[in-house]
Amino acid sequence: MVSVTSVVFAALAAVASAAPSCRAPTYTLPQVGEGVELAAPPANLFLKKIAIGHGIQNYTCETTASDFKATGAVAVLYDATPLYPKTKKTGIKQREWDSLPTNLLRNLPLPLNKLAGSTYGADPTTPFPAPADLALQGLPTIKFLGHHFFDGNGVPVFDLGTTGLKAAVKKLDNIPAPQSADAGITGSGAVQWLQLDDNLTGRSVGVTMVYRVITAGGGAQACSVVGAGVQSVPYTTYYWFFG
Ligand SMILES: *[C@@H]1O[C@H](CO)[C@@H](O)[C@H](O)[C@H]1NC(C)=O
Ligand SMILES: *[C@@H]1O[C@H](CO)[C@@H](O)[C@H](O)[C@H]1NC(C)=O
Repeated sequence: MVSVTSVVFAALAAVASAAPSCRAPTYTLPQVGEGVELAAPPANLFLKKIAIGHGIQNYTCETTASDFKATGAVAVLYDATPLYPKTKKTGIKQREWDSLPTNLLRNLPLPLNKLAGSTYGADPTTPFPAPADLALQGLPTIKFLGHHFFDGNGVPVFDLGTTGLKAAVKKLDNIPAPQSADAGITGSGAVQWLQLDDNLTGRSVGVTMVYRVITAGGGAQACSVVGAGVQSVPYTTYYWFFG
């Protein structure tokens, strides 16, 4: 396992590009760089996985921003860990890594079973198609990792499939995405960056903290007929899993 340090995102890129790439990379949680940051993970936690997620954020249907309520999310997770910059043999360039959420959001369709009659909605009973890896032009194949969804009690869950890792979480902190973040396909803005920790219902396995960073899209958007149903907005992001 590797330790994690917290360094300003832009500054790290400069430092890392000068370093030799002969050892395991130092995983550095990205920072927004605009003053307000999420707290670094406690020193006794180690990075388990970095996933890239592609799915939808759900909201109630409202016309004014202050009225929106987030009601959940559904996303497919892929294992981005081997692509982390400076990883021997499999690491991609820092700028490719930083733009991977945007690349995925804008170049591949939602990996969800569509809700008939909707643009971005997912089928409520069977949202996930059969597991499939990600093939993005010019990049190594990114392996299917698992699923993110909300359970029947509204608890956010991450199920990392065959790794055996699982997280049932609650929100610890949230901060706005950077001004430069990708506002998404619908232009409704990038969802906030999050720090999530174990919900303590005994369902997490090997994971006690999750971060959502480098978000693209997923922000709440107005709907024309208030109460017309759930608004589902496409998003991508990295999820960093610590345990
Ligand atoms: C999100 O909305 C989709 C419809 O687009 C629905 O199938 C799914 O169950 C919803 N999930 C949550 C957690 O709100
Ligand atoms: C975990 O989720 C359950 C079900 O929603 C909730 O009742 C409980 O308060 C949550 N626990 C924590 C520690 O947030």
